[in-house]
Amino acid sequence: MRTKIAQLRAEIEALTASNAEELEKLRIRLLSKKGEITSLFNDFRNVANEEKREMGVLLNELKQAAQEKINTLKESFAKRQEDNTVGDLTRSALPLKIGSRHPLSLVKHEIAAIFSRLGFSIAEGPEIEDDWHVFTALNFPLEHPARDMQDTFFVERNPDILLRTHTSSVQVRVMENRKPPIRLIFPGRVYRNEAISYRAHCFFHQVEGLYIDREVSFADLKQALLYFAREMFGSETRIRLRPSYFPFTEPSAEMDISCNICHGKGCAFCKHSGWVEILGCGMVDPNVLKNCGIDPEQYSGYAFGMGVERIANLKYRTKDLRLFSENDIRFLEQFRAAF
Ligand code: PHE
Repeated sequence: MRTKIAQLRAEIEALTASNAEELEKLRIRLLSKKGEITSLFNDFRNVANEEKREMGVLLNELKQAAQEKINTLKESFAKRQEDNTVGDLTRSALPLKIGSRHPLSLVKHEIAAIFSRLGFSIAEGPEIEDDWHVFTALNFPLEHPARDMQDTFFVERNPDILLRTHTSSVQVRVMENRKPPIRLIFPGRVYRNEAISYRAHCFFHQVEGLYIDREVSFADLKQALLYFAREMFGSETRIRLRPSYFPFTEPSAEMDISCNICHGKGCAFCKHSGWVEILGCGMVDPNVLKNCGIDPEQYSGYAFGMGVERIANLKYRTKDLRLFSENDIRFLEQFRAAF
C-alpha cells in the first residue's frame, strides 16, 4: 500500500488536464466511489494494526492533495473561459480604425438642427417619382425646359416615371396628405442629367423647407432664412434676396449670403462680388396650393430649397463636387474632428 500511495502522490503532483472534461475524468478515476484513492481507503481495513496510524495519515494527505490539485485546475479553466468572453481572440492586434461622418451628413444634420429650433420637423419622399409630383402639380408648363430630356432621368423610357430633379416633389406629397399648419423640411438626394465635372454632378442633395399656415408672409420667410444663415455661417452673416423665378412660387427669390471667406471684400470664391448664392425660395403659388387640395383663400405659405453640397463647399471650402461621392478615405478622414 505504501508504494501505491507514493506512486499516486507523484502522479497527482504531475497531473495536468487540458479541458474541464478531461479533469472530470481524472476526478472519477481517483476520487469517485470506485476511484483508485477510494479503493485504497477500502483496503485500509487490511492494514496491520501497527501500521494503521502512519497509513491513515498518508492516505488522508493523498486524498487532500488530489482534491486540491483538482480544484486548482478547475479554477484555472473557469478563469480561462472568463478571459475568452472578454475579448475576441481572433481580433487584429492593431487598434481598430474609427470612421468619420460624411461631410454631407454633417451639413444635413446641422441644417436640420437649425430649422428644428424654429419648429420644423423632417419628412421624406421617394427618389423615383411621377411627373405630377415633380412637375405638373408644381405649375411647370408642359413646354418648360426643366422637363427636357437633358435634365431629367426617365425610368424605362416611361415619360411619367422619373428620378426626382428636386425635393419640391415632397412638398406636393405632404400638402396632399396633411392639413395646415405644415412646418417641415425635406432632405434628400436628387438627380439631373448633367455632365460630371468639379461643379456639377448627376446626383446631389437638397434640403427643402415648407411652411403653410394662415397669414404666412414673405417677412416670415426672410426672418427664418436670416436666422438660418447666421446660425450656419456666423452671427456677422448678412443676407440678400434677389428677385427670381420658379414656377411653383410667386414671388420668387434667390438668396445670397455675404461671402464667409473674404467677408465681403471680394475673393475668387465669390467672384469678387462679396456675395454667394445659397438657395431659392418664395411664397407657394396659390395654384400649387389648389393642386394639392389646400384652399389658397385661407392659407398661404413659403418654401425654400438649398443644395447641401453648396453649403458644404462654403463651410469646408471644398472645391470639387466629385470628392463627395468618391469615397476617398484621405478626403473623408479630414472631417473626423468636425463633430
Ligand atoms: N426646387 C428648386 C430647385 O431645385 C429650389 C426651390 C425650392 C425654390 C423651394 C423655391 C422654393 O432649384
